[in-house]
Amino acid sequence: MPSERGRHRLLLDADTGIDDAIALLYLLGTPDVTLEAITCTAGNVGARQVAANTLALLELCGSSGVEVALGSEVPLEIPLVTTEETHGDQGIGYAVLPPPRGGISARHAVDVWVEAVRNHPGQVTGLVTGPLTNLALAIRAEPQLPMLLKGLVIMGGAFNYPGNTTPVAEWNTHVDPHAAREVYAAYEGLPVGKLPIVCALEITERIECTPAHVDAVSRAAGAGAEILDPDEAEGTRSTNGNAVVACVSDALRFYMEFHRLYDQGYVAHLHDLFAAMVATGEAGFDERLATVDVETGSSLTFGQTVADFAGMWKREPNARIVTGNDPAAVFELMVRRLSQVARLHG
Ligand code: RIB
Ligand code: CA
Repeated sequence: MPSERGRHRLLLDADTGIDDAIALLYLLGTPDVTLEAITCTAGNVGARQVAANTLALLELCGSSGVEVALGSEVPLEIPLVTTEETHGDQGIGYAVLPPPRGGISARHAVDVWVEAVRNHPGQVTGLVTGPLTNLALAIRAEPQLPMLLKGLVIMGGAFNYPGNTTPVAEWNTHVDPHAAREVYAAYEGLPVGKLPIVCALEITERIECTPAHVDAVSRAAGAGAEILDPDEAEGTRSTNGNAVVACVSDALRFYMEFHRLYDQGYVAHLHDLFAAMVATGEAGFDERLATVDVETGSSLTFGQTVADFAGMWKREPNARIVTGNDPAAVFELMVRRLSQVARLHG
């Protein structure tokens, strides 16, 4: 018998990376969430490393039954660029996890997405926390996919806000702007309830994780204090006896050192965590309808996401752009959910 399915049936496509990992732990700790599968796209690190990280995190948290499928290892048109500088050589910062015992699915990511929506029309919500390559390929394979999904949440883009990869472009979009352009175009004119909810940098950089948040997760898990001291030597590893707390701490320490290096403070922007909370319906947010397009022709603004909120282009809306959120509520929930996972599996 299939396991009891939760109210929220999610299909996650990730480039597991540090904040993807935190988002995954949150999802695993959230009641009523069923992960239909996790598909892996190249982005922060190569797709095969993404799959290995994802499998290892699932096994760390006692969820080895979730299907993990490999997707595209390269963007649609341009060479792959990864960012080990941001997420570490393996993609989860300083965290080191046992090599996963399980393997990747025999199915390709595109087949996972297409078969999920055809078999369960209107029941599965998509959540993409990496480049949109796999989703673009899935829509090519099944043009009805946007209508067959229950909904879609995307972490990506930056609207009237500085990029984190170029002065105007955000990472997920910049890795594969052609895929992003195809995805947004596929949604033009669809019913508002089907349009992607877009969590872009101007909203996700408000989700600023500090050492106090990590300490709160550890204490709530009964694992004692977990102090990420910015004055400690870079690369200091956690000595926490709880394996989940130690993984979170070592991953986020790397991310905080990276943010400090770029004068953002000893913090970690948890972009994907917020997108995951939007997908489960647990994060409150404000939104505005817009028509989004992506620059793919200019060397100066390559990968920039542009939103028309006023109908200037005379094109139908294709996105629900998040315009407001509550960071304190996000972190209160993060502490609750991650400490629960750590208490059960650490
Ligand atoms: O720009 C932030 C996004 O790029 C996040 O999804 C992060 O994981 C990286 O993939
Ligand atoms: Ca990501």
